[in-house]
Amino acid sequence: DSSGDLLAHTHRTGTGTLRDLLSELHGRLATMNDGSVATYIPELAKMDADLFAITIVGIDGRVLEVGDAAQLFSLQSMSKPFVFGQALEDHGREHVLGKVNVEPTGEAFNSILLDEQTNRPFNPLVNAGAIATADLIDGRDFPERLTRLLKIFERYTGRTVHFDNSMFYSERATGHRNRAIAHLMRNFGMISDRIDETLDLYFQQCSIQVNCRDLAVMGATLANAGVNPITGEQAIRAEYVKDVLSIMFTCGMYDSAGSWAYGIGLPAKSGVSGGIIAVVPGQFGIGVFSPRIDARGNSARGVAVCRELSQRYGLHVF
Ligand code: DON
Repeated sequence: DSSGDLLAHTHRTGTGTLRDLLSELHGRLATMNDGSVATYIPELAKMDADLFAITIVGIDGRVLEVGDAAQLFSLQSMSKPFVFGQALEDHGREHVLGKVNVEPTGEAFNSILLDEQTNRPFNPLVNAGAIATADLIDGRDFPERLTRLLKIFERYTGRTVHFDNSMFYSERATGHRNRAIAHLMRNFGMISDRIDETLDLYFQQCSIQVNCRDLAVMGATLANAGVNPITGEQAIRAEYVKDVLSIMFTCGMYDSAGSWAYGIGLPAKSGVSGGIIAVVPGQFGIGVFSPRIDARGNSARGVAVCRELSQRYGLHVF
């Protein structure tokens, strides 16, 4: 059956309940201490390295979670696919794709490279592309743009969200490279003149506070044709869900996007705070949080959790 009933799914595969597996995985991987907490932004360096949570939310709204699932942390790059989705809704595909391409880079997330022929950033999930899509968040003035930005995430999480002011200032104070990228894009006419506002929006979206359950609900919303399975609210028009998932599949895991797609085979997005959102279309969303990140910027335990779930349940989309 393809009813999206993940508990039925685990029965069918005869591997015990998913809840048991999550507890077992959490207990086992909690002793894996590969990677380390990101330190390039002072506020990020303050995170407790040992935090660890796994949450699964089905498209029927069922929630399974283990570990520190209510612990707040910053959304970071996990915000990027959702802002891309909003840009598509606000401006349509043609306009958005004129400002940002959809090619994986094989480069680091903060690459300053733009496409040589068109001067577009390579995709919406590297910083350059994310700044270009943040520029597309419209509003009469800055407060309205910020309100609209936060509303995106309120629809996906189903609750009121805030950004962490200390994280925002820490991002902003150390964000010279992002500023350089924005000015380079302004030079090529890829973003508007409101550079400082757009950078602030970008730093704010990175600083939005979420917990592991939020990650899974966001993923489940994408798994459920854009409808939040807890609130029933349409977070993004169904027609754009495939745009967002395609970008996550090809570009979501930084410069290990290829090996992730090959080995784990799920659309996903990671952030330097140690979160991963993975989507099993038509079935459920997975959230993992563990701040120890590997050399590529992905949560080491998070990758391990997703790999085991994918292999155990045959979740690879192909
Ligand atoms: O320095 C930045 O732009 C980051 N705060 C971006 C966040 C992130 O997760 C980086 N990787 N995708």
